[in-house]
Amino acid sequence: MIGRKNRINDMPDRLGPTTQRKLVMKLLHVDSSVLGAQSTSRLLSAELVQAWQQNHPGTQVDYLDLATDAPNHFSADSLGIKLGMQAEPTEAQRKENQVSEQLVTQFLAADVIVIGAPMYNFSIPTQLKAWIDRLAQAGRTFKYTEKGPVGLAGGKTVIVAASRGGVYSATESGQAAEHQESYLKVIFGFFGITDVRFVRAEGLAMGEAAKASALAAARAEIAKVTREAANQDKAALAA
Ligand SMILES: Cc1cc2nc3c(=O)[nH]c(=O)nc-3n(C[C@H](O)[C@H](O)[C@H](O)COP(=O)(O)O)c2cc1C
Repeated sequence: MIGRKNRINDMPDRLGPTTQRKLVMKLLHVDSSVLGAQSTSRLLSAELVQAWQQNHPGTQVDYLDLATDAPNHFSADSLGIKLGMQAEPTEAQRKENQVSEQLVTQFLAADVIVIGAPMYNFSIPTQLKAWIDRLAQAGRTFKYTEKGPVGLAGGKTVIVAASRGGVYSATESGQAAEHQESYLKVIFGFFGITDVRFVRAEGLAMGEAAKASALAAARAEIAKVTREAANQDKAALAA
């Protein structure tokens, strides 16, 4: 397994001295809204990170802004080396492969990943999808066995600040149209991550009262999800 169990900074006393090693928890903060200062998912992801740091002092934060720094969409260059398309990779393939390596390494190094994810056209921004495409690498985040796929990035906690104009959670037809949370849950589950938490602000385009109540609900959820221990802490306690 790639996920390490005991990389934590606040282990309870009942664990032995070996497991109590004070190791730094790493949090990767990712934003993907293109709306800058107007963005609700950016506002909520920043509040999530701040609340996480308050509840888990000493957490080290790395930041990735996909609106300004997204990888290219898949191409023959970005997949050339991974798929062994030719004996001698081109310069363009090497450069694209370096981007994939850097992104998957940064992701695998994180214990907690906080993602600002707006809904665009029933799904996620293309920039966020392009990032996930670079993470989905056989041998790094998943592998296939005779019994099917196995996730290799387990042990992490993912917290998503999901913003959207309409309301999707309240009806069956809404849930069927929603490919934002459902997609993120599936893909991180495919990577082996079972602890995926959502802070949802929906109905943001449905008037001032609806927006205010969506933000209040999201903030209450932020307080809750950041108080919970990270997945790896729970795993260490259970061991
Ligand atoms: C290009 C675009 C597409 C959108 N598509 C949807 C949609 O399919 N469903 C929805 O409920 N809201 C949609 N919205 C509204 C956004 O989800 C909403 O404004 C949300 O606050 C965006 O997150 P942000 O403020 O972090 O950018 C869309 C907004 C934009 C800019």
